[in-house]
Amino acid sequence: MTDIQPAMANPDTLPVVSVEDVKVHFPVGRRDLLRAIDGVSLQVFEGEVLGIIGESGSGKSTLGRAIVALQRTTAGRILCDGVDLGALKGRALRETRRAYQIVFQDPDGALNPRLTILQSVREPLDIEGGSSLAERNKTALKCLDQVGLGPDFASRYPHQLSGGQKQRVIIARVLTMKPRVVVCDEAVAALDVSIQAEIINLFAKLQRDLGLTYVFISHDLNIVAHMSNRIAVMYLGVIMELGPVEALLTNPLHPYTLSLLQSRPDPVPASMRTTQRIILKGEIPSALAPPSGCRFRTRCPQAQQLCAEQVPAWDNVAPGRWVACHFARTIPTSQGQLKS
Ligand SMILES: Nc1ncnc2c1ncn2[C@@H]1O[C@H](COP(=O)(O)OP(=O)(O)O)[C@@H](O)[C@H]1O
Ligand code: SF4
Ligand SMILES: [Mg+2]
Repeated sequence: MTDIQPAMANPDTLPVVSVEDVKVHFPVGRRDLLRAIDGVSLQVFEGEVLGIIGESGSGKSTLGRAIVALQRTTAGRILCDGVDLGALKGRALRETRRAYQIVFQDPDGALNPRLTILQSVREPLDIEGGSSLAERNKTALKCLDQVGLGPDFASRYPHQLSGGQKQRVIIARVLTMKPRVVVCDEAVAALDVSIQAEIINLFAKLQRDLGLTYVFISHDLNIVAHMSNRIAVMYLGVIMELGPVEALLTNPLHPYTLSLLQSRPDPVPASMRTTQRIILKGEIPSALAPPSGCRFRTRCPQAQQLCAEQVPAWDNVAPGRWVACHFARTIPTSQGQLKS
């Protein structure tokens, strides 16, 4: 898709973000509870791109928002450089959270139509205060330049820009905060395919130039696979598999990962394929009443009695590889097999 590869993570570094058994439950009506996130643990390392993939409703956005402290957690905690943002308040929260930013899907919704591009990019600095207008303008123009928009864009208004240019403005605004971690939540989903590639290239370039760390959320496996060093596969509020991108793509260990891989458009005709596709049947169940045991069991072609009775453990089956499936170590299937 692009010619620029993201920088690799340094495995010796400490986690920048540590998500520890986090739950986010939303009360619905008087008695019901929607379990958007239901016990997620993962770490994000400095300089890496951690991709998060999963169908709509699996809890990706809620997790992304929780990481940047836009969403309170019901249980568990999230440490950003060792600090629990959820425990901070007021000025301490504002000053600390600037390093953890988020870019959403819809640049239109994030830009005030009445502000010029320069004003929009400068806005977080204006709110923060502490520097002169000239300094803030200088920073805003530098950030616009970093996203490939020259000074002639400064006096324009959002309606004069294309979708891709607007997303560049949003990214420039995030850069004014000198972030360490940027959560990209479907950040290219609203753009035309040709523009998607441009913005993905930009994300990769900024990561190299500025040493950023990304949590890259998308329902599009091709985009996540291209951008990420590691991938976490979410389903109904939990992570089903986590591992290095290449291992996960070539040797998936969870039936859900396999079904996502097989649902990608395939240039090989059905008659020439050596393995049978697993077609995901039905919709993702409601997070109001997730299935007992393994949440994927209602759609899993390999489900057995045990799957309804017991929640599979989050099993570190190989270095860097984690899977939540009772049979990840034992079933020799058309899915990947654990190589010891
Ligand atoms: N503020 C909210 N109140 C109630 N339910 C919510 C809220 N935000 C998200 N949800 C629900 O949480 C679940 C996960 O949503 P979301 O995190 O947006 O998933 P994804 O980004 O993977 O599509 C969905 O069932 C969604 O309807
Ligand atoms: S635990 Fe059972 S239902 Fe869940 S993925 Fe594994 S085989 Fe399928
Ligand atoms: Mg989402």
